[in-house]
Amino acid sequence: MSVVGIFDSGLGGLLTARLLRERRPDITILYYGDTAHLPYGDKSPAQIRSYVRGIVGFLREEGAEMIAIACNTASAVAYDTACEAAKGAPVLSAIQPALSAFERRRYPEPVGVIGTYTTIRSGIYGKALQSIDYVVRELATPVLVPLIEEGWIDHPATEAAIDTYLTQLGEVGTLLLACTHYPLIEASIARFYAKRGQKVSLLSTAALLAEEIARIVLPAEGEGTLSFWVSDDNPRFLELAQHFWGAPISPALAVR
Ligand code: DGL
Repeated sequence: MSVVGIFDSGLGGLLTARLLRERRPDITILYYGDTAHLPYGDKSPAQIRSYVRGIVGFLREEGAEMIAIACNTASAVAYDTACEAAKGAPVLSAIQPALSAFERRRYPEPVGVIGTYTTIRSGIYGKALQSIDYVVRELATPVLVPLIEEGWIDHPATEAAIDTYLTQLGEVGTLLLACTHYPLIEASIARFYAKRGQKVSLLSTAALLAEEIARIVLPAEGEGTLSFWVSDDNPRFLELAQHFWGAPISPALAVR
């Protein structure tokens, strides 16, 4: 099992794929960015499930032996759908590795959780963390994904959105980035807290998922290959893919 199908609503999940590639170049990665339907964060669970069914089916047909949902939103509302569509192949969600991290060691409280409307509304992190006695503060931060997908990484508008949201969230000891897009603005988030002299541990669901895939997949001989698909090949997305992947890539248009 060394062919992993990774998907996200857009290009954010490329960060997970990139971290995985750095750790485990032997793994073959099939990446699918559902750019035609981005953002997932304000879609209904039923709509997201129908996208996920199609994507997982596509990745399995392309040869994926394991599926990793590099999207908290899809993981929160469509994990069972992904498992069904994977027809027996293992499915990793973006949520489980993060929850396991909180079970393995005690992080400073309160724990802030930021993510899309759908992730936060699902209550999946809040309930799980409270069940292991964490004080949790959750906040939907819907404006961040469009800003990131626009490539506004070190941009005053993004800084202003971060400022507004994190002020609203209030003081935390740990901040869980419960959206796989957010590591791209992790430096700005760290700056927000540093300016206020607050020591906050930042945890990234994207990085934790990459670590988990790297831990589970058995070693393969030689270097793995990379394939990328998008559901809409808008030229702007293709330019942006570089931000996420760190080098130019040319995804194929997936016909489903
Ligand atoms: N990156 C995704 C997540 O982790 C989804 C962002 C979106 O499409 O709204 O939730």
